[in-house]
Amino acid sequence: MTKIAALNPARQAPYAVLMDAISPLPTPLIVPPGRTLIEIHDLRLTLPSVAGPVNILRGIDLMVAAGETIGILGPSGSGKTSLLMVLAGLESPTGGTVRVAGHNLGGLDEDALARIRRDHIGIVFQAFHLIPTMTTLENVAVGMELAGVVEALGRAQAALEAVGLGHRLTHLPGQLSGGEQQRVALARALAPRPAVLLADEPTGNLDQATGAIVIDLLFTLACEAGATLLLVTHDPALAARCGRELHLADGRVVHA
Ligand SMILES: Nc1ncnc2c1ncn2[C@@H]1O[C@H](COP(=O)(O)OP(=O)(O)OP(=O)(O)O)[C@@H](O)[C@H]1O
Ligand SMILES: [Mg+2]
Repeated sequence: MTKIAALNPARQAPYAVLMDAISPLPTPLIVPPGRTLIEIHDLRLTLPSVAGPVNILRGIDLMVAAGETIGILGPSGSGKTSLLMVLAGLESPTGGTVRVAGHNLGGLDEDALARIRRDHIGIVFQAFHLIPTMTTLENVAVGMELAGVVEALGRAQAALEAVGLGHRLTHLPGQLSGGEQQRVALARALAPRPAVLLADEPTGNLDQATGAIVIDLLFTLACEAGATLLLVTHDPALAARCGRELHLADGRVVHA
């Protein structure tokens, strides 16, 4: 992640996701449980580097039904984060197709991708990426406010209460523990009720006990919300809690 951050500004400041400028109200994305929500065919991602083109994703095929939970495993550099970035519309595929609820991401411009991301996709990163000058309530509400959600503050408060932080609404991120900060990030991702929740090593910065609390919340809340969860982790036990696993190596699916 660090090496990528140096190269790709979108990955360097993922909370910019929240600031996607956008106008109309979110449109509900209704895909009944069990129906295909994500469809990936022969996905390829090649990016330039000073040493020449890097083939990061080399022909990934994946179908995900609404409501599924998928644990994504693989060695460092195998393409896990890159796959999530493509699904979030933050990285454009160089080959193949990626459909989210029927939208072919490859055919959309930046604004349309930003709308899909804002309306349908929640993201939780290893680093919490909270805005340091905003309170917990503001951090969770700001994306919805920008989207014109009338009850943004109320929904933000409810989401923070759901992660056990109803008593920390006015704290700044710097006044929270790591586990609390990740719970704010979780509330921020889930409050807009996304169809898809992308989590990239969400407990990577937390101790084991705190991580276990955050993961329990992640599963519980994603399940309650009917969200489809793609969870990148290096922890096989955690991946095993998901409905199924996807193993990547060198930009390919080696076991699914
Ligand atoms: N913008 C970029 N330009 C060039 N190469 C890149 C870029 N972004 C990622 N890579 C390379 O793509 C490969 C996959 O990176 P990615 O971050 O997806 O791996 P990962 O499986 O998430 O690894 P980790 O477990 O360490 O987080 C790495 O070898 C990385 O160096
Ligand atoms: Mg990664």
